[in-house]
Amino acid sequence: AKEPARVLVTGAAGQIGYALVPMIARGVMLGPDQPVILHMLDIPPAAEALNGVKMELVDAAFPLLKGVVATTDVVEACTGVNIAVMVGGFPRKEGMERKDVMSKNVSIYKSQASALEKHAAANCKVLVVANPANTNALILKEFAPSIPEKNITCLTRLDHNRALGQISERLSIQVSDVKNVIIWGNHSSTQYPDVNHATVKTPAGEKPVRELVKDDAWLNAEFITTVQQRGAAIIKARKLSSALSAASSACDHIHDWVLGTPEGTWVSMGVYSDGSYNVPAGLIYSFPVTCQNGEWKIVQGLSIDEFSRKKLDLTADELSEEKALAYSCLA
Ligand code: NAI
Repeated sequence: AKEPARVLVTGAAGQIGYALVPMIARGVMLGPDQPVILHMLDIPPAAEALNGVKMELVDAAFPLLKGVVATTDVVEACTGVNIAVMVGGFPRKEGMERKDVMSKNVSIYKSQASALEKHAAANCKVLVVANPANTNALILKEFAPSIPEKNITCLTRLDHNRALGQISERLSIQVSDVKNVIIWGNHSSTQYPDVNHATVKTPAGEKPVRELVKDDAWLNAEFITTVQQRGAAIIKARKLSSALSAASSACDHIHDWVLGTPEGTWVSMGVYSDGSYNVPAGLIYSFPVTCQNGEWKIVQGLSIDEFSRKKLDLTADELSEEKALAYSCLA
């Protein structure tokens, strides 16, 4: 039998946490033959609720779940973890400036970076979900210099999955027949959902999405804004932000990173830029990646037209600004 993997979920008493921990305990994230020990962290005001989640995990009698650590102590939470899913953060409240939210979150990510660096298992893989996701991940990377930068990522898989969903709805086809959309850049409304290389499996072989949709006006405008604004549309409908789709996409992100992407398929991940596609190095930016043997690699050599180039640059500019703002908060 395999040794259990220790999986940390921060903000585990929150909405995404509540959807995410049962998925992990059922094997959705790491596969049906990988036992897990869940480490759940939240802050003292949420301690009682966190304990309630722990009680429900016991009650659900998940066969793969070999233990639960529920704590408000960041060192205890981080100790020995192989995977860290960082969902905890300070939400934007009415009347708060962007800078105030940024300031709260970068200080959380700075201190949790040190705890992970000192106490996590060697080669721990980190996924930041909490917003501003790319910049929180960048701060985590900067303040955990001994964790290899390739191990620190942020979630844009939800945006990727939303793009697949929109194409499948538009063409009335199975979502599993659509692949290779790309989310470039920031997990924000400046992200660029790109279908220029996306394909659909048809009885006559793989066809480009552009050829099947036949409506460039829709693809170049409404499709993009629908994906960019989907988070806001969910909040409007549910009066709460996306949780089940965020949790499911977080599982997809780690699953594919650890177990690999299928041959011929790429996914989107926020990763540390090496300057590929002329994206400034030193930002956490969402790229198309393939994964093998637990390592991601940016897909190279895709053609970028002029329309796309502008959009890649716009979202990079926003990330550079966020980075500067984050540093000014820490100064
Ligand atoms: P929530 O407010 O329901 O839960 C957040 C939890 O984090 C709360 O239980 C809170 O007590 C906890 N927390 C706050 N500070 C903490 C700290 N220092 N350490 C540990 N826990 C802490 O929020 P929800 O809906 O679960 O969303 C979580 C985050 O995920 C938000 O930042 C949200 O914007 C982001 N998000 C990101 C998405 C993505 O695709 N990247 C998609 C959806 C949400």
